[in-house]
Amino acid sequence: MMQLTKEQQEIYDGKQGETLAKVMKTLVKYGEVFGAEKMVPVTGKHNHLVTSFGLKALGPVYELMNQLIEAGNLSKQTFSADPRPLDKNVPANFLQNFIFNHFMYSRQDFYEDQLNKLGLMEKDAFTCTCYMDEVGNKPQKGDVLSWAESSAVVYANSVLGARCNRNSGIMDIMGSVVGYVPYFGLLTDEGRKASWIIEIKTTKKPEAQLLGSAIGMKVMEDVPYVVGLDKWLGTELNDEACTYLKDFGAATASNGAVGLYHIENLTPEAVESGKALINENARTYVIDDAELERVYKNYPVVWKNPDAKPKLCFMGCPHMSLQQLKDWTDKVEKSLREAGNKKVLIPTVFTAAPAVLKAFEQTEYAPRLKATGVITSYICPLMYMNNPLSGKMPVITSSNKLRTYTTAKYYTDDEILQQITKGGNV
Ligand code: F3S
Repeated sequence: MMQLTKEQQEIYDGKQGETLAKVMKTLVKYGEVFGAEKMVPVTGKHNHLVTSFGLKALGPVYELMNQLIEAGNLSKQTFSADPRPLDKNVPANFLQNFIFNHFMYSRQDFYEDQLNKLGLMEKDAFTCTCYMDEVGNKPQKGDVLSWAESSAVVYANSVLGARCNRNSGIMDIMGSVVGYVPYFGLLTDEGRKASWIIEIKTTKKPEAQLLGSAIGMKVMEDVPYVVGLDKWLGTELNDEACTYLKDFGAATASNGAVGLYHIENLTPEAVESGKALINENARTYVIDDAELERVYKNYPVVWKNPDAKPKLCFMGCPHMSLQQLKDWTDKVEKSLREAGNKKVLIPTVFTAAPAVLKAFEQTEYAPRLKATGVITSYICPLMYMNNPLSGKMPVITSSNKLRTYTTAKYYTDDEILQQITKGGNV
């Protein structure tokens, strides 16, 4: 049984209102399922919510939000939320637009209004990469979080050294409203130990999203301790390494269910404690060029016509960083020049946080990228893809998360670049 403090017990017993009592009871039950013996305070300035979309079918969520707002049980922290599902800049035909706006996400404005009332950080705080400097929701090492977005949870745990379980949607807001989360799993020192050693033995820097996919599929929800990646990433968490780990982590979290990884000599806990983080009976998985090739070749082909010409390309799932947008501008320009082309050959969308896009617009790169024909957007590509009409479209991406959850076809970054600038099959 869970041991509650006096204040927690009072909330549980309804002394702070019936609604808050319900929230506390839900969290206690959730914790007990996982063997938690106590509730610990949620820390940090901001929370992050996974549910950002006003899906017509989410009636019970709106009802719950209403109850919280009416009872005055607003979030104790302001919060960011996952990306919006709609953006008119992203190419869609008449029928798709009709379905998006009138059937699927018809409650978007209503839901955003609820989020604002509940404590959204600011009007445009919709992104899965809330930890980017431009967005301003970057937890500190040791912060206890109540997040649910898998790509953000794994980043916060691994790269920032915060502590967060892979919660589900709605549980995230509940933790923030009541101010406590159950103490188990990745919140505990024991739960942060690795039961897999991953040895990287590739002859070149492994593709982040492919490596993450291989590890995720092997270790599932376990914690991997990765040896040999510092050879390619260095030992400093600079912009380049963080961007790599953002994409790598999202693939581990979606192709498996990883919530935390340690990279030897690089991520904070691995730097601090080294191999002491590895459990005694940890298993070993060796990754070389052949293993990555095997993983890549084994992805199922889900297009009806495997040789169809791509109709759309999505990059930025999770959302791209400012540096990534700049680097890709250079790459696209150069590759177009080499091919003697002026504009990309496939409609291409680069997605990033609204705040990152705003910063990008201030740079000389923005007009250059626009001139190549690439579209920038704050959309969540998964929300775009998750319906039968988009599902039938031949869409390509270098996101392994998008590949996992939709019919989008995965290619490496270089292969994507070739297809959008030079055409032809890779
Ligand atoms: Fe982010 Fe949506 Fe991809 S939330 S990680 S852009 S699926």
